[in-house]
Amino acid sequence: MIINKKGPLKGSMTVPGDKSISHRAIMLGALSEGITEVDNFLMGDDCLSTISCFRQLGIPIDLDSNNRRVTIHGKGLDGLVKPNNVLDAGNSGTTVRLLSGILAGQGFPSTITGDASIQKRPMGRILAPLEQMGADIKSVNDDLKAPLNINSSDKALRSIDMNHILKGIHYQSPVASAQVKSCVLLAGLYADNETKVTEPALSRNHTELMLSEFGASVTVDKNTASILPRPKLIGRKLSIPGDISSAAYFIAAALIVPNSELLIKNVGINPTRNGIINVCHMMGADIDLKNIRKDGGEQVADILVRHSNLKGIEISGSIIPTLIDEIPIIAVLSCFAKGKTIIKNAEELKVKESNRIELIENNLSAMGADITATEDGMIINGGRPLHGADIDSKLDHRIAMSFAVAGLAADGETNILDPECVAVSYPDFFEDLLGKSKL
Ligand code: S3P
Repeated sequence: MIINKKGPLKGSMTVPGDKSISHRAIMLGALSEGITEVDNFLMGDDCLSTISCFRQLGIPIDLDSNNRRVTIHGKGLDGLVKPNNVLDAGNSGTTVRLLSGILAGQGFPSTITGDASIQKRPMGRILAPLEQMGADIKSVNDDLKAPLNINSSDKALRSIDMNHILKGIHYQSPVASAQVKSCVLLAGLYADNETKVTEPALSRNHTELMLSEFGASVTVDKNTASILPRPKLIGRKLSIPGDISSAAYFIAAALIVPNSELLIKNVGINPTRNGIINVCHMMGADIDLKNIRKDGGEQVADILVRHSNLKGIEISGSIIPTLIDEIPIIAVLSCFAKGKTIIKNAEELKVKESNRIELIENNLSAMGADITATEDGMIINGGRPLHGADIDSKLDHRIAMSFAVAGLAADGETNILDPECVAVSYPDFFEDLLGKSKL
């Protein structure tokens, strides 16, 4: 995909539904009694992987792709059935990790895996708490990675008491990860007692919010979330806000392309996800949040962005989990900011869909930026003009989209390799980006 320098981004737009919330809507809809109708569902490959796993687990799900509507015919906490095949999470870490928590609580064996990238990502982080809960879960190749076999040994099948197959625990998570936290909370639905997770910094809380909306008893005290077992979850209607992680590319594009003024409507601004807005404000960005409202437990707003002169800042500590997926685009923004941007405490970037620290450094260097990767982040001296280059996305959607935005403000041609990888989270990304930015 060739990207050339473009003119301002003008007018208004929406971005597709939130990926994290879309996954959770399928999962909780499936475990609820009755029908769950979801509007503005993200029809991206990751969420479609979650749908296909739940169909294999016996849940009827109707898709109306044109209208981004999904109807889930939930069967309650004990309504899933043994799948006939290996469950395939595709490229989606959220699917593998959250679904493993649910599968650990079932009275049948299953195996879950995903694509080549998924099979390289760490699963020890969910195996540890699930084992503490008494789950029978094993990495097939003994490498703490997928494929994972769940309830496949005699031990699990002998000891199953369908009412509480797992033990409630208080898990002290070593990482601030919503996928780990959510895995444990979802397993907690099938425990004999309360389950608690404490994390070092607060990660996205969509699971906690949505579980409460569906009728579970969830309490939150600072960085600790607790859930009582075996709630009766009831199907409901949900409308998913636009994904702030997808909006981030357009926020950045409008900030760096001169004369831009863009209104991005209906975007989720949950405080555990809005680090990108806070960082942009700290960098001096002209961004206004309009029409702030609440929908289904989630905060939503329209975001008005104007081209701005940015300055470098330090980004570290507890803000990191609130912008973890936005660091590639923040790195691009930093190249257009005056002065130094330092990103620390972001070692999690190494275990995302790719090693993002390495890929950001390689690709920004290829475009002429002054960037040094560090163990847990990077240092960027902004202000050097970028030029076009071949961008190796290594099939990582966020790298492809971030560098397409860089290409809008770089001299010459930027060539994004394997651009189709954007389909996991934003299938129409290139049409939207190139349509919004006219020469
Ligand atoms: C997600 C959590 C984050 C994020 C991912 C989606 C989720 O991962 O990077 O894109 O939906 O829970 P971690 O929990 O591993 O940080």
